[in-house]
Order: sequence, then C-alpha cells, then structure tokens
Amino acid sequence: MNPSCPPIVIPIRPQSAPLAPDALFGRPGPLEVDVGSGKGRFLLARAATFPATNFLGIERQRRRIDKVAAKASRAGLANIRLLHTEIRFALEMLLPDQAVKTFYIFYPDPWPKRRHHSRRLINPDFIRLLHRKLAPGGTVHFATDHRDYFEAASPLLLCSPQFTPCTPFIPSPDEQTDFEQLFAAQGKHANRCSVTANAATIPAGR
Ligand SMILES: C[S@@+](CC[C@H](N)C(=O)[O-])C[C@H]1O[C@@H](n2cnc3c(N)ncnc32)[C@H](O)[C@@H]1O
Repeated sequence: MNPSCPPIVIPIRPQSAPLAPDALFGRPGPLEVDVGSGKGRFLLARAATFPATNFLGIERQRRRIDKVAAKASRAGLANIRLLHTEIRFALEMLLPDQAVKTFYIFYPDPWPKRRHHSRRLINPDFIRLLHRKLAPGGTVHFATDHRDYFEAASPLLLCSPQFTPCTPFIPSPDEQTDFEQLFAAQGKHANRCSVTANAATIPAGR
C-alpha cells in the first residue's frame, strides 16, 4: 500500500471534530457504512466489487478491526477504512451530517433478554440519528436472524415518517456476513428490511 495513503484504521483523537470522509479515503466518492462490521466478510467483498465506492466499517472489537485491516491491505483494497469505536459515538461525533449514501446494519447484537432490550442498537433515537447522517435518498439495510428483534425494530424503520420502505437488500453468496453464514448453517433464515431517507422537513416555526 502506498505509504502516503491515509491509514486504513482511522486514528481517533479525544474531542475529535467530525471527520472529512473524502480526505480519509484520499479521494471523493459515495460513502457506505457497515455498522458493527465484525470480521468484515461483507465489507471486504463489497469493497472489492465496488472500487469506486468508499466503505467504512465501525466496530468496537480491536482484534476484529486489526484482522479486517490486514485483509484489506493484503487484497490491495484502497477503498476501505475502519473506525475502532462505539457506533453511536461514531455517528454522533465523527460522521458529518448528510454524508452517508448507505448504512448496512447486519446482525446487530439482539440482546434477547427483556431486561437487556435497552441495549439494542435500533431504537427511535438511533433511527433519527441514521436519518441525520444520510444524504437525501440514502438507504438503510437491516438484517437479523432474530425474529423478536426484527419484530421490534423493523416497524421503527418501516413506519418512520423519515423513511420510505424499499426493496430489501439481499447479499450475493460471497457478500454474506460471517454471522449470516453461521446462522444459515444452523437453518436460521434472515429477516430483512430496507428503507430510503425522505427529505428532511423543516420544523414548524422556522
Ligand atoms: C453479532 S456481530 C455481527 C457482525 C457482522 N455485522 C456480521 O453480520 O457478521 C455484531 C458486531 O457488532 C459489534 N458491536 C456491537 N455493538 C457495538 C457498538 N455499540 N459499537 C461498535 N461495535 C459494536 C460487535 O463487536 C460485533 O462484532
């Protein structure tokens, strides 16, 4: 990899200002974000297929970040960057508003116990945050094997006034995430939904 290229794992400084995505990739391009990118099977495959698109993975497990970075480097994928941090922090503090073309939220931790439901990623606040970070017409793709999580989370997306349902994203076999492969091998099928961001409405009184 060219030593003058920006690093694959983006350094985060305390009190970071919002990042400038085009500078992080060393070029302009549509930005797609894999939220909880895990072991990176989807991110790596997608980046190889769409070299003109900039792909950002957000993941809090350092070992997973390092492994994906090593694989991206070995494969010569110049269009992958990784943030080793919390998803909400990354979206709130690091990504500029209206910067993202697509969010992929695949197999987020389901937190099955009722007393842990508040830890689930997808809730009304998070949906508003996704909308704020999306470019107009941008898309969110959600998939989970967990029926109960899907039944709680999908209406928040599909019925939100900020989004319009669209055709669910079905990955090609080589793009299936590591968790999708794991669950498919156990006979568990994916529940999927996708939505497109509506144009922001101007609050009354402004
Ligand atoms: C169940 S795994 C799914 C990984 C991948 N999307 C897949 O389908 O194979 C969830 C991933 O999200 C990461 N994760 C969960 N909550 C997170 C958070 N708040 N911030 C950053 N990463 C998170 C976990 O470390 C884990 O790698």
